[in-house]
Amino acid sequence: MSSHVVQQLVDVDAATRARLKGQKPVAIWLTGLSASGKSTIANALEVALVERGRHTYLLDGDNVRMGLCRDLGFTDADREENIRRIAELGRLFVDAGLIVVTAFISPFRADRALARTIIGEDAFVEVFVDTPLDECERRDPKGLYGKARAGLIKNFTGIDSAYEAPLSPDIRLETLGRSLPEVVRQILGYLDERFAATDLTTSRSAANRE
Ligand code: ADX
Repeated sequence: MSSHVVQQLVDVDAATRARLKGQKPVAIWLTGLSASGKSTIANALEVALVERGRHTYLLDGDNVRMGLCRDLGFTDADREENIRRIAELGRLFVDAGLIVVTAFISPFRADRALARTIIGEDAFVEVFVDTPLDECERRDPKGLYGKARAGLIKNFTGIDSAYEAPLSPDIRLETLGRSLPEVVRQILGYLDERFAATDLTTSRSAANRE
């Protein structure tokens, strides 16, 4: 960073924006193998939050890699930079007052720890989408595991690039044998409990009627 960069002071702060939206801004950070279900769960979670009148934004690996991170590949260094950018973006969106849902493999513990630091401990929820590798490989919706096993894709997570499972995630979602509404309810239940005082997930219209 240039030493000539000086932070500008602004009058409208994060608390004002959050108050205006009537919610506690947080980042719900989904991590897990490719084909573990991150994007599907993130999408259903965002729908559920919007149904409760929440202001949200969804950041998804494949989409972000077509724009902001189109210059990045899948070496360890590129993944590290990918996650750093998403964390900075997440921080801005949380600062803007939004409930951000992210769906990235984010395979390395150190990078997820950095994301937690950048976004802030009190606004960060790490969700481990815990689907076993053999199940992800069986699903293989994009045919990528097959190609990785055939040596056509290098550095594929779970095959020839590591996935460091979270040791103490805020939420561990088992997906095998569980329905999508069930796992979404698990996340909403956690949010309700942790952010109860700030009324994150209760329907605003219902709350207003009381
Ligand atoms: S991350 O490791 O940097 O967090 P990210 O979530 O953005 O990864 O992107 C993962 C998606 O990119 C996968 O779902 C898959 O569709 C695609 N992909 C392409 N090549 C690879 C690879 N070598 N390893 C993992 N995913 C890959």
